[in-house]
Amino acid sequence: MSSYDVVIIGGGPGGYNAAIRAGQLGLSVACVEGRETLGGTCLNVGCMPSKALLHASELYEAAVGEEFANLGIEVKPTLNLAQMMKQKGESVASLTKGIEFLFRKYKADWIKGWGRIAGPGKVIVTDAAGVETELQAKDIIIATGSEPTPLPGVELDHERIIDSTGALSLPEVPKHLVVIGAGVIGLELGSVWRRLGAKVTVVEFLDHVAHGSDLEAGKTLQRSLTRQGMSFKLSSKVTSAVRSENSVTLRVEPAAGGEAELIEADYVLVSIGRRPYTKGLGLETVGLQVDKRGMLENKGHRTEAPNVWVIGDVTSGPMLAHKAEDEAHVCLERIVGKAGELNYNLIPGVIYTRPELASVGKTEEQLKAEGRAYKVGKFPFSANSRAKINHETEGFAKVLADERTDEVLGVHLVGPSAGELIGEACVAMEFAASSEDIALICHPHPTRSEALRQAAMGANGHTTQA
Ligand code: FAD
Ligand code: NAI
Repeated sequence: MSSYDVVIIGGGPGGYNAAIRAGQLGLSVACVEGRETLGGTCLNVGCMPSKALLHASELYEAAVGEEFANLGIEVKPTLNLAQMMKQKGESVASLTKGIEFLFRKYKADWIKGWGRIAGPGKVIVTDAAGVETELQAKDIIIATGSEPTPLPGVELDHERIIDSTGALSLPEVPKHLVVIGAGVIGLELGSVWRRLGAKVTVVEFLDHVAHGSDLEAGKTLQRSLTRQGMSFKLSSKVTSAVRSENSVTLRVEPAAGGEAELIEADYVLVSIGRRPYTKGLGLETVGLQVDKRGMLENKGHRTEAPNVWVIGDVTSGPMLAHKAEDEAHVCLERIVGKAGELNYNLIPGVIYTRPELASVGKTEEQLKAEGRAYKVGKFPFSANSRAKINHETEGFAKVLADERTDEVLGVHLVGPSAGELIGEACVAMEFAASSEDIALICHPHPTRSEALRQAAMGANGHTTQA
């Protein structure tokens, strides 16, 4: 039996950041992870492999289509899917090894195996050979993450009917990929396979894509993706899937009910959301229960059980790696009696399509629902010199500011490098900047960041470049 100040169950962005921070704060710490590598969903089958394929497929499409030729670069590319997958795997491996290095550096022990709580202060780990080890801990942090939500009637066979993990390593380019769910995964991985040559049809229950995003931004992104060749069937639901040897027949109905149609595909990606993962965790041994969504509730990262904490996808809030990471830092600060705090109003979200959609703060729809008086400044990337020079003119920057105080309440960007640009809005809003503050700050020329500044000027009625 080993004793630690902190035992963390789960080695994803929540768990591994908690382990590193615990080590930095001088605590003895163990992180229990059942996968063969650290890094959780994000590094192994989420953020990182998906971004690797988005990057590679974007360049492939630019080379195979007219984009390179228009720039005066004549090439005749062929797709080497095996190599594309190999370089993705190598990048992922170097990232997961990097976490192992950081564990060694900050003296965090990785206990390999599946952990379960076995009463207050006690975690039992079962390794791949079935050997059990008991750990004692003053504090336990649950960071077990999430898993794909299943869709009744469309059972995964992990061959032709797949989840995001399957869609990150298909052995061939689909002829026709049907994506169920026009959320973040559907739009990103649908983009990857369309760029590589698949026909892609996205079936979405709601009447819009990218739910939760500013509606105007989501619609603009949908128009771009449609122009690129992606098809959308909105307000529709898939009610069954029948597999034959090389294809799947889907029954698709209007969301509100009505006549069904059949759609044939060779691959089907089910991406209708993720749900918290707490299987076999022994929650009952410390008197904990999940709510009806399978989620463990928290107050300042504490569960209702003394000295049991919870962070990341398994608890409330957006299921995002940076949210899990920040919660890890805050949770550790609180364990050692410091005053950590995370501003849940300012967690940015990015959809890494082309153009990207990046947001922080309130959407127009939220401000309307709150009855808050606001003003809008908007600037199109078609008037931004850097975007024009690079032939990436789709989209806009939009700044929403309080009508009376001018405080920035939301920023929504659809365009090139939007995911990088949103960081500026996060900093400004954390410091309660007004749109005038952003408008008065000198921005480098020629950069896309000038579009954000121009939008901020727009909120003050004096956009100078459009
Ligand atoms: P996880 O990363 O899920 O880690 C939990 C870990 O706990 C897992 O490794 C699991 O094996 C382990 N575990 C579970 N139970 C036990 C147990 N009993 N014992 C031991 N180990 C256990 N987010 C972004 O912010 N940006 C992105 O670009 C992005 N892209 C994504 C793309 C895809 C395809 C997917 C699926 C997700 C993406 N996400 C992205 C979401 C992001 O991956 C998650 O929000 C993040 O990984 C959550 O971190 P976590 O630590 O809470 O959980
Ligand atoms: P999601 O919640 O983003 O989108 C799911 C979509 O499926 C919704 O639009 C929903 O209306 C739709 N849907 C639900 N049931 C349906 C049905 N029966 N038929 C048709 N449509 C249906 O979930 P997704 O895309 O699976 O991603 C899960 C989570 O992973 C995201 O919420 C996000 O937190 C995280 N993620 C983040 C990324 C990023 O930050 N870039 C990238 C990928 C995932």
